[in-house]
Amino acid sequence: MKSNTDVAQMKNRRSFLRNTLTTGAVVAGSTVLGRHKALAQDSEASAELRKGDIAILRFLAAAELIESDLWQQYAELGGLTSGLPIEVDPNQTLNAYQTALSNLDSDGPQYITSNTIDEISHATFLNGYLQSKGVDPVDFSEFETLQGSTAAGALNVGRLTNLMHLNVDTSWYIRYRSSTNPDFGAAFPQAIKITNRTAIPRTDADFEGTDHIQVIANTAAFHFGFIEQGGSSLYQALSQKVSSLEVLKITLGIGGDEIAHFLEWVDFSGNAVQVPVAPVSDEGLTFPNFFNPLNPLIQPSLIFPVPCEFISPNLPRCSVIRPTNDRFAGAVAAIASFTHDGLFVGQQKEFLRILQQMAEEADAARREF
Ligand SMILES: [Fe+2]
Ligand SMILES: [Fe+2]
Repeated sequence: MKSNTDVAQMKNRRSFLRNTLTTGAVVAGSTVLGRHKALAQDSEASAELRKGDIAILRFLAAAELIESDLWQQYAELGGLTSGLPIEVDPNQTLNAYQTALSNLDSDGPQYITSNTIDEISHATFLNGYLQSKGVDPVDFSEFETLQGSTAAGALNVGRLTNLMHLNVDTSWYIRYRSSTNPDFGAAFPQAIKITNRTAIPRTDADFEGTDHIQVIANTAAFHFGFIEQGGSSLYQALSQKVSSLEVLKITLGIGGDEIAHFLEWVDFSGNAVQVPVAPVSDEGLTFPNFFNPLNPLIQPSLIFPVPCEFISPNLPRCSVIRPTNDRFAGAVAAIASFTHDGLFVGQQKEFLRILQQMAEEADAARREF
């Protein structure tokens, strides 16, 4: 494998973030909201944020740090490692994971690297914005202790998240093809049951076997969709609680980028369940060809949200992001779904306690004038 310039730059950016934004940061107990002090030298920046907006922004910064950590792991192994798009450098050496991801879309490694850069920018911006308002940024570096992959290409650094024991919730794949809405009580089955599986090569041994590595890549494809649909719903839910117009601009702006990510992974995962990639099986997990037999609830070519119930079941159906209510899309729901996903397998209880408290404070925020 070639040297990993992009990933190294990303890691450097994270270190920069950590070193420049975390002075005195504490995210524990009753200090979760952090120090909140206006900056006198800038009247624009000195406008104090309301308690609810601070809780929302701090929770979103936490979620973005989690996203950054997991996407970084994907990028090290499956992203663009020569720094050049495959169209420009078709002869670059790809590992078997990158090849399997490229089978889903020849630009797959580029998209993985781009998604990673975006998440790091979200986390860095949110922490930078908080700090510009005199609020402590969120810092999870003390919890970056998990052992990640040891396959060639993975950096030897501690991780915040675990991608090697995932229970990927694939119900989003059916939800977005359905005309019913979870906010009105609709429930959806799993498109594919993915239980305790790795989404990255754990060691070099996982690069061996065409079907073996393809099933790992397909698991990742559905996990990408799971993560980004969650982000899309989360920003929608929390935007409804924001008071400051500037904070609303931030949540709509970043939330829109999460939707952009989600759409790509909808298309990408659809390629994991049609020919020529599917059907493919390994160690008890099968990705079938969802065109055979044809069923609109799992049809791979339906990549945009199918119109569904919205606001009231009595109104005309509408193509929208869903869910957007607290119960399924709020901060507490996001942490519960990350936990069920297996992202925090091996993580300290204290980390989960802090996350839960930040999530409850974000969900408790109410729009004020
Ligand atoms: Fe993000
Ligand atoms: Fe995201």
